Formats: sequence, C-alpha cells, structure tokens
Amino acid sequence: MNIKKIFLVASIILLNAFAIECIAQQQYHEQYRPQIHFSPKAHWTNDPNGMVYYKGVYHLFFQYYPDSTVWGPMHWGHATSTDLIHWKQQPIALYPDSLGYIFSGSAVVDKNNTSGLGKNGKIPLIAIYTNHDPVGERLHKNDFQNQSIAYSLDDGKTWKKYSHNPVLKNPGITDFRDPKVMWYEPEKKWVMTLATKDRITFYSSADFKNWEKESEFGATVGAHGGVWECPDLFTLDYNGKKIWVLIVNLNPGGPNKGSATQYFLGNFDGKTFTPDNTETKWIDYGPDEYAGITWSNTGNRKIFLGWMSNWMYANEVPTVKWRNAMTIPRELHLEKAGDELFVTSRPVAELKLISDKPVAKTEVVVAKSVDISRLMHQPVSLPCRIDLGMAQGDNFSIILSNNLKEKLVVGYDKELNQYYIDRTMAGKSNFNNEFAGKYFAPRITKNKDMKLSLIIDESSIEVFADNGLSVMTSVFFPEKKYDKIELSAPGKVLFSNVTYTRLRSIWQ
Ligand code: FRU
Repeated sequence: MNIKKIFLVASIILLNAFAIECIAQQQYHEQYRPQIHFSPKAHWTNDPNGMVYYKGVYHLFFQYYPDSTVWGPMHWGHATSTDLIHWKQQPIALYPDSLGYIFSGSAVVDKNNTSGLGKNGKIPLIAIYTNHDPVGERLHKNDFQNQSIAYSLDDGKTWKKYSHNPVLKNPGITDFRDPKVMWYEPEKKWVMTLATKDRITFYSSADFKNWEKESEFGATVGAHGGVWECPDLFTLDYNGKKIWVLIVNLNPGGPNKGSATQYFLGNFDGKTFTPDNTETKWIDYGPDEYAGITWSNTGNRKIFLGWMSNWMYANEVPTVKWRNAMTIPRELHLEKAGDELFVTSRPVAELKLISDKPVAKTEVVVAKSVDISRLMHQPVSLPCRIDLGMAQGDNFSIILSNNLKEKLVVGYDKELNQYYIDRTMAGKSNFNNEFAGKYFAPRITKNKDMKLSLIIDESSIEVFADNGLSVMTSVFFPEKKYDKIELSAPGKVLFSNVTYTRLRSIWQ
C-alpha cells in the first residue's frame, strides 16, 4: 500500500470511530434521558442486582430485558464504574436458561475460596440469583422460583453458571426470591437473606452450595400491603456500636402507594434477627425508589442504590428508547432523632466529580417568590443540585417550571410537619392514573434547623432533608424541559443559605 492509500484507510477508520462515538453520545441525550443517573443505552430495566466492589471497580448488574422497553424474560445487564458516577455498560452477564429467567440477587467476593469455584489461585466472584421458571408459574405450581449461582474468575467480566444449580430449592412458596448474601465472620459462614412472600427467611452455608434454614422474620411486623422482595442485611456503626439493618422492599404497600423500601434496626446473631422495635421505617418516602439494596465488599462504607421507578406505572412511563433508571448512589449512616435511631441516606461524595463550583447566597429573604437564576446572577439549568438552609422550618416551596405552565413543586408543610413533592401539574401523566399526585414524607428530626439538598436531573428529583433523615424520590415528564427554578413562600421566609451547583452530564 502506498502512503496515500494508508492515509485514506486511516482517515476512514478515524471517521468511523468518530461517527460511532457521536451516535453513542446522542444515545444518551434523548428527551427525559437521565444525565447524572445510570440508565441502560436501550430497553427495559428494573432492580439493581449483584452490586459488588472489587479491585477498584463498582459492578452494577441490573434486571434487564434486551428485546423490549417493557418487562419480559429477565437477564442480568451489567455496568461498571470506578467512581459510582460514570458508568460504562458492559455485555450482558447472565441470560435466561433452562431453569428460567434471571431474577434479582446479589454478588460477593469469595476471597477464601470457600466455594472451591476459584481455580489456579483466582479469587471467584459469586453471583446468586433467583431462577424464575415461567412455565411453572403458568401451570400455577408453587415451586417455580429457586436460587442459583454463577461465578467469575476474571474479576467480574464474564460469568459461568454453576453446573449443579439450583443451590437452594423451593419448599413450596410461590414468592421465594431475591437472595442477598453476606459473610458472617463470627461463625465463618455465608448468610442468605431471602424474601419469602410475607417474611424474610435466613439461610446459612459454609460453601455457598449447601444452604440450611436458620430462621424466619417479619410475618407479623412491618408493612404488609404487598409481597416482600429484595432484602438486605448489614451492619452500620453508631458511636462505635454495631447495629444490624434489615432492608425489606415491599410491593405494593409503600407509604405513598405502590413499591417502596422499609427497614428494621436490631440485632442478628448469625441465626435470628431481633428488631429493636417494630415500627415501620422507610428509607425513601417518595414514589420512585424501589428494590434498593447495598454494594458488598465496600468495607465500612455502605452504599445504597435503588431503582428509580414504581411498579404502578414503570412499564408505561413515556420514554421511547429505554425505560427506567437507577437513583443516585447514597451513603447510609445512623442518626438519632429524639430517642430513636434512623437510617440516613445522602448522595455519595463522589458527586463532586461532576459538580461545577457551587454558587452560594446567604441570608436570602423570600417574600412570595425568588427566581434562582436572578438570585445567582446566572442562568440555571438541569441537571443541578440545590442546597437550602433555614434556621427554622417555615412553609416554603421550590418550583421547577417551564413556559407551558408545567410545574413540579417540592415543599414543606409546617402544619403537617411534612415535606412533599407535588407532580399533579408536572407534565405528562395520562399514561397511568396513579402517576399524578402529591406525595408526603414526615419531618423526622427534632431540630429546628432545616437543611435540604435536591438532586435534580432531566426527569427526576431526589430530596434529602435534614441530613438524609427524610428522603423522597420522584420522576416527572414535562413536555418541555424545566428551565426555571423559584423559591416561594406564602409569608416571608429567611433562608440562611441557598446554593446552586450545576452538575455536568456523565455521558459527555
Ligand atoms: C422487584 C422484583 C423482584 C424480582 C424482579 C423481577 O422489583 O419483582 O422481586 O426478582 O423484580 O424482575
């Protein structure tokens, strides 16, 4: 080949690469496409699955149907990140097989090779999931959900199913799924927390292949408006003391209808979970956080991620190319309000990686309404973060709107002592009767000081109030992107600070 030809071929290759890159980028800029949250390039997703951190990489698997934008035969899609913010979608990790679809589950690092699945000194990552047999379901059998495992010997890139699946057979319980496994160090064994219809069943195993039932929890405590799904069990530190947290997702029966994440605090002795009290507590009161659980192998840090939708309308939301996304990853802690302990959740600190320099104003008086772009002397745009502080809680709201008079309102109702998100006028809602609505969360803190952080993307808002004690997530679908953000108050309200931070797209 002469020089000219080489030059021509090289140019064509470069142009092609450029074109592919352009298409890839456009892909993430369709109407409603989350700019700071993970969503699959195309098609359907629900629960986050198999979240495990290994060798500097956060793995996120997800319930995925690669042939459609509605729920169907479930696969495990796969995405990776080194910072919890920027995600790269990887090839599908697990395909349906003769035992059924690949429903939700978890993944761990078997660093002592207890399973014997490691070969040539390679540490196995093990994924455990529910095989859901659609034929058994259609025949109204009661044992169509069984637990199976797969393992990876290349740090999570590719997965091989274990040849003797399932590892835990169904004893005749129609809803028998979503295994979350953790290592219980005092007894050097694996503990599986499994959702079994209206309760949790704990199992244990020394080798990941043989599982023994330990105990049941919850048939008569907690919220039971629907079936229990996607549990998680882990400890959080409170003043040097280990407190056990049991997360139980529930659908329907959430505090604002549909699906939601409740939790219990207490003790786990390797066999039995004993709650400190039986009051129902919620990780997130909004309509759109579900199936949330935590990453494994992150040491003392506990990082939570939920699916940003609700089974009431998840199959109908008006996106075209993909359907549904994940929440922002959140770090969990414990905090006291009055005499009681609560789980708090706050966006992970890594969000700073896509944050522009915050613009802050102090001592802001709002009498009726203040336009944030005027206040900041700069245009505001989504995605962004808004932080607010107030010396005492007064009625106020934050209104996102466009010139079609569509608006989403987030606020605090002093009389009710509740936060709310009102999306009755937020835009499209006729795809499902349950969508438009006003959703409430109790103000849990006893402090006078009020603090709010809002993470706002093109079609979602996450409200973290009072250090993450009261949290709400909601999606919305305006005909036209919101381009105005106002603070509003019926009387005169003084904000000690108002901070606007532009967030950069993770898909750039
Ligand atoms: C929760 C859930 C799980 C199940 C999966 C199926 O959203 O219903 O219980 O494993 O979704 O996609």
